[in-house]
Parts: sequence; structure tokens; C-alpha cells
Amino acid sequence: MTHERSHSPKRVVVLLSGSGSNLQALLDAASDPDYGVEVVAVGADRGGTYGVKRAERAGVPTFVRRLRDFDDRQEWDRSLADTIADYEPDLVVSAGFLKLFGPIMLNTFPGRVVNTHNSLLPAFPGMHGPRDAFNSGVKLAGATLFFCDPGVDTGAIIAQVAVPVLDDDSVETLTERIKEAERDQLVECVGRMMRDGWTVEGRRVRLGASS
Ligand code: GRF
Repeated sequence: MTHERSHSPKRVVVLLSGSGSNLQALLDAASDPDYGVEVVAVGADRGGTYGVKRAERAGVPTFVRRLRDFDDRQEWDRSLADTIADYEPDLVVSAGFLKLFGPIMLNTFPGRVVNTHNSLLPAFPGMHGPRDAFNSGVKLAGATLFFCDPGVDTGAIIAQVAVPVLDDDSVETLTERIKEAERDQLVECVGRMMRDGWTVEGRRVRLGASS
């Protein structure tokens, strides 16, 4: 599947559950028209996140869809997908969104939902990537940008950045250094995807449309 290059600004919806430092990096990048991206909405799965405050401060529309406000996960999934669809996104970016997407979300935006995770997948999936990497004794940790599929951090990998584990690291210092590299990678890759397109063959992803 090839997604062709286009010169028009692309519409991105960002989903988060917490502080939204990845969102902030995207907002900062998007303030330059040459970046080619507009963050058209920000959604959260819980109230009171700092990420949503950042969006409000930037004048970006926000929404909250809490699982507990719905009869079941399918209804939540449907509401999330319908709400995002109203913003007609070219790409949905899950950036610290602590929920798995259901089939309705994934089928509404096939191949257009990406997630950033703070480990070098397939190592250390799940909620505690940096801690699990630190405790395992690996010397290289990092972050992965990938396409969401129904699994936990199992989708096709778009990009990875390695972050050395230093002798005097703690879980906290490693986590913070990974976040810095992760933000840069996210900004770089979302920009390239939106400006230049991408190609997927099996599990192999290449940025830039095929010629
Ligand atoms: C990121 O490191 C992401 O990989 C992890 O949570 C962090 C989100 O940070 N799942 P923020 O909310 O963007 O600051």
C-alpha cells in the first residue's frame, strides 16, 4: 500500500492520557507551516490531563472519552472512532494514550493510527517499557513508533531510536532521556509521513512514497 505525497497541510488528531509532552512537541513543530501538519483535535481517555490543557492553551479542540462512561468497551470504541472521524484526520497519533484501540477504531482508520512506545519493540511492550528495560540490564533502550494493530505494542514498526543505558542511570533518568529521543523521533516521522507519504509491504514500513 502506498500513500502518495501531497503538498496540502495534513490533519492530525492526537490522543493522550497524561502530560502531553509529545503533543507539545507536535504543536511546536506544527506552528511552522513548512512542517505540513495541523493538529486538528486532541482527545483523552480521562479528565484533568495536562495534555488537554496544553491543547486548550494552543486553541486546539479537545474531547474526553472515558471508558467508564460507556456501557461497554465496544460503545466506547465506537464513540472514540465517531468523534475522531468528525475531524477527518489523515493520521491519528496515540502519544501516551493508555488504552488499547478496539476493532471499530482500527477499521475506521485502517493503517492510519500510530503509537509511540518507550522501548525498542518487540522488547518490553506494555506500560513499563523503561523500567523493564532498566531492570533487564540491557545497554540500549529507546523508543518505537509503530502502526497500531489489535495487539499490545505489536504493530508494524515505522521508526526506532536507541538510547544508551548509562552506568549511573536510574529508572527516572533513563525514562526522561528516552522521552527526549522519543519526542524528536515522533516529530520527525509524523512530519515525513504527512509530507512525503509512506509505503507498507508486509511488516516493512518505508517513509516516502514509492516512485
Ligand atoms: C511516552 O513516553 C509514551 O511512550 C509513554 O508515555 C509517555 C507519554 O508522555 N507511553 P507524554 O504524555 O507525551 O508526556
